[in-house]
Amino acid sequence: MLEIRDVSRRFGATTAVDRVSLTIEPGQMVGIIGRSGAGKSTLLRMINRLIDPSDGSILFNGTAVSALAGKALRAWQRDCAMVFQQFNLVPRLDVVSNVLHGTLNRRSTLATVFNLFPQSDIYQAIDILDRLGIAAHAPKRVEALSGGQQQRVAIARALMQDPKIILADEPIASLDPMNAQVVMDTLRRIHEEDGRMIVCNLHTLDTARRYCDRVIGMRDGRIVFDGLPEELTTSAARDIYGADESFSESATSTSIESLEPALASHAQARPAAALEPAFAL
Ligand SMILES: Nc1ncnc2c1ncn2[C@@H]1O[C@H](COP(=O)(O)OP(=O)(O)OP(=O)(O)O)[C@@H](O)[C@H]1O
Ligand SMILES: [Mg+2]
Repeated sequence: MLEIRDVSRRFGATTAVDRVSLTIEPGQMVGIIGRSGAGKSTLLRMINRLIDPSDGSILFNGTAVSALAGKALRAWQRDCAMVFQQFNLVPRLDVVSNVLHGTLNRRSTLATVFNLFPQSDIYQAIDILDRLGIAAHAPKRVEALSGGQQQRVAIARALMQDPKIILADEPIASLDPMNAQVVMDTLRRIHEEDGRMIVCNLHTLDTARRYCDRVIGMRDGRIVFDGLPEELTTSAARDIYGADESFSESATSTSIESLEPALASHAQARPAAALEPAFAL
């Protein structure tokens, strides 16, 4: 269970997150929505400890992760993997090496410098890529892939950490509707099959409604909505976005709804063994 207790974060005169309290049970997929500057990214980054709260505490299964340092902090950052809007991959590096970077924080500096990845990690990386339907791209440079494929590489890198939580900050904001759907389907599937907690910042109401078990609305650093997707009415949305009667949902829509129902299988299956020689060390 993730508990956020009275957490605030200030940047100079700006209060990005203002006394937020929140409990997320394991096995929930939570969407956080709100207009630009509402504090969504700041909240996510504090959970992962990319930045520290100014006040309050964050606990996971009773441990105050907001107070961790050194090795324990690194272990926590392994437990909660981040996925970003801009993928944060190394474009000129091949896909499988990018995925293997998910193991960096459990490997020695020397092994990292010489790019020495254990064979078992390489197999695991390819298995994860296979699961996400992109094993066929494993030897390619990341920059040769589409945005949706790149985001799935980033998700594969996150899975390499075997995280308890995946924190996704606007994972589909740079993608077209088709790729957005593939990426959201992927996150939902990981959530359902592995039972991992997923907390996902989203720009769009339709995506939050469609994919999340619970939706949290932030406005000016505070939580102004916390409910089920079906409770997220136009009037509730208007309140979250601080909009007037002219508010239109289409302004916050990805048009995912207009696509075909879930693309059941994105697998471009290829036996992992067939790729093995390219990565043998
Ligand atoms: N490193 C920083 N230094 C100064 N101000 C910051 C910093 N990070 C965030 N802020 C400010 O904190 C507020 C919340 O920012 P945050 O990025 O969390 O919003 P957001 O909801 O993620 O917005 P968006 O939808 O645009 O991503 C904003 O006013 C922002 O300018
Ligand atoms: Mg943000």
